[in-house]
Amino acid sequence: MERTLCIIKPDAVKKNAQGSIIQMILDAGFKMLGMKMIQLSKTQAQKFYEVHKERPFYNDLVDFMTSGPVIPVALEKNNAIADYRNLIGATDPAEAKEGTVRKLFANNKQENAVHGSDSVENGLKEIAFFFPECDL
Ligand code: RTP
Ligand code: MG
Repeated sequence: MERTLCIIKPDAVKKNAQGSIIQMILDAGFKMLGMKMIQLSKTQAQKFYEVHKERPFYNDLVDFMTSGPVIPVALEKNNAIADYRNLIGATDPAEAKEGTVRKLFANNKQENAVHGSDSVENGLKEIAFFFPECDL
């Protein structure tokens, strides 16, 4: 079993797409271990996306991720990292395959509806960022 962290981003929450997105995740066979809705502080968003701090889009990304509530969801499945990234599609919805979450719900490369962990190790770290193990 692997774990991955989904975050339903502010753009998707604003358009009330969270229900449809969660249904797609469940229909794809993921087990939901935890979920909550929170408003990220600037400090939290900066910390979560620290790996991108040298990238030109970092400040915009932090502003976007704090522009409204987000919904972190801890997920578990065989091959969860790769299967979830296939389900959500490419970072830029213009490049995402038909039927993927980002193709259906993203606005653009930044406002792209959902986050997904990029490795088994980061999945565990990112879940721990939002959820104490005893809550899962
Ligand atoms: P995520 O981490 O959110 O699952 O997305 P990802 O792996 O597909 O993309 P990543 O390269 O990790 O980038 C993190 C998030 O930064 C925003 N971004 N904006 N304007 C841009 O060129 C740009 N590039 C990336 C997106 O919100 C992306 O999901
Ligand atoms: Mg990423």
